[in-house]
Amino acid sequence: MTPPNIEVLEDPSAVANRTVELMRETIARAIAERGKALVALSGGSTPGESYRRYAAGGAQTEALWYFVDERCVSPTSDRSNYGAARADLFLPGKIPDSRIFRMEGERDARRAARDYARALCKAAGIDEATAIDEHGRARVKLDLVIAGMGADGHTASLFPGTGAVQRNHELVTVVEPGSGLEQRITLTPPMLIGARRVLVLVTGESKRSPLALALSEGSEDEIPSRLYQRAESGVVTWLIDQAAKP
Ligand code: 6PG
Repeated sequence: MTPPNIEVLEDPSAVANRTVELMRETIARAIAERGKALVALSGGSTPGESYRRYAAGGAQTEALWYFVDERCVSPTSDRSNYGAARADLFLPGKIPDSRIFRMEGERDARRAARDYARALCKAAGIDEATAIDEHGRARVKLDLVIAGMGADGHTASLFPGTGAVQRNHELVTVVEPGSGLEQRITLTPPMLIGARRVLVLVTGESKRSPLALALSEGSEDEIPSRLYQRAESGVVTWLIDQAAKP
């Protein structure tokens, strides 16, 4: 197991500042090297401040905005990850709709997931039939993934005990999280760890023990955030605050 790359920052505000700095740097590099940057955003409460601060500094125009996951609700619902990103990033950052690619949580989830995989392949110029190579690696490469981790150890919408973290032969999948939560559409492990850069934002005391588990060896289905241990060295950076430090 490669040692994890962890940056311990003072508090959630310092995590947001560092996230913005790495977003700008990673997006700028992708644009310089490939003329565009494919970025995937998570929902949840942690990244909101980073999105607001990034937008306040002006969004980089060649960035294309995708999603890590979506709850199966209307885009106008206050549970929608798109809705949250729209309020925190897209509207204040004046990002045109033509650069935003949302997961359509209001539609039949399986079809929406299939269409999303197709759109990702198209953006990357990859034939869908060969989107995952013989080693189980996604040939569709996102430049940047902003991820989080739930107190139960889930990441993206790969929930514990659902087997979703083992879906390594598709790019986008549908998950039934249980516990009264709505169905989800989510990127799968090959898409997440196949990205050029992944930032996992973890703050607050409630995340301390799940973070310790995520960094330890054990079942991925129990603690899906362990999947980041599979990434190549240098891809994943955990941005955590003092309160979450195990
Ligand atoms: C979602 C997310 C999810 C999130 C974690 C952490 O739709 O809920 O994308 O994976 O990153 O649940 O959420 P918090 O930041 O709210 O703790």
